[in-house]
Amino acid sequence: MNHDFSAFLMQTKTRVDQLLGEHLGSFSSSYAAVDSGIYLTRLQQAMHYSLINGGKRIRPVLVYATAAAITTDVSPVVTANLDRIACSIEMIHAYSLIHDDLPAMDDDDLRRGQPTCHRAFDEATAILAGDALQARAFELLTELTECPPHIHLNLLRILTQASGQRGMVGGQLIDLESVDKPIDVQQLETIHRLKTGALIRASIAMGATLTGADRQQLEQLDCYGDAIGLAFQVHDDILDIEADTATLGKTQGADIALNKPTYPSLLGIDGAKAKAAQLHQQSLTAIEHFDANALLLRELSGYIISRSH
Ligand code: IPE
Ligand code: IPE
Ligand code: MG
Ligand code: MG
Ligand code: MG
Repeated sequence: MNHDFSAFLMQTKTRVDQLLGEHLGSFSSSYAAVDSGIYLTRLQQAMHYSLINGGKRIRPVLVYATAAAITTDVSPVVTANLDRIACSIEMIHAYSLIHDDLPAMDDDDLRRGQPTCHRAFDEATAILAGDALQARAFELLTELTECPPHIHLNLLRILTQASGQRGMVGGQLIDLESVDKPIDVQQLETIHRLKTGALIRASIAMGATLTGADRQQLEQLDCYGDAIGLAFQVHDDILDIEADTATLGKTQGADIALNKPTYPSLLGIDGAKAKAAQLHQQSLTAIEHFDANALLLRELSGYIISRSH
């Protein structure tokens, strides 16, 4: 991995971990008056447990890398707004993982090397921590400063659509309905595009929208996002087979145990790898007319299909 790129990944992760802690903190203080003690504290603990626990922060990384491809403006206002966008999408992602691990969904015991939220707390607390993280994500996105109203509304629309029925939630439902059913590659692609690709595309679209990308740039970045969003889940499916539990931080072989349709299960492991490589090339082609400021995005695409966890 390129040295500058790995430094960027590490710095972004450190920055986002700290900011997420601050944003949950402000949540608790603004509601301090209604905190009747143990119950809200428990909710707060569960939110913190699942949000600040070692995620790779790829969606925030995409927000910042996309912004860097569009503008060199690193003014405090732009930076603070990018920070809020980055934390907002990471909260949606954390909520999606809490719910994804629930007994009614993938029924997983391990996440990021620790017991899943419902194991560490209980199911009701996990459901509510997910709900509360989602609400906090949208609240945070309303807190942008000096953002023109049409851009602000656009950002809210992008995240809302990507999170809901036409995005992540819709994909999760079809994913669950497809267990034990003979689906084809096209149907699997739809599932992956929705359950995982939608939030990845949204991260890119939000970084680009805030920094004033023009229509052509938005379209090219969306093609890039579509390709890496799908590649991200194809590689996740491969890791479920090839990685070990300690490296993954989640139970290896969980997809096979649940008879989930995945790229390796439909195309074989080599077919899945070929698909990931093809999507990587597709993503590079989509942004070939961008200048050297898109280097982080180019590196990220390679990282997404080569990461170890
Ligand atoms: C895991 O996402 C769930 C998928 C969408 C495949 P990540 O691989 O980004 O998980 P963390 O946030 O780094 O733990
Ligand atoms: C999860 O896909 C996608 C979302 C959480 C929206 P997976 O079920 O494959 O993710 P992991 O493997 O549990 O992280
Ligand atoms: Mg799942
Ligand atoms: Mg899962
Ligand atoms: Mg998986």
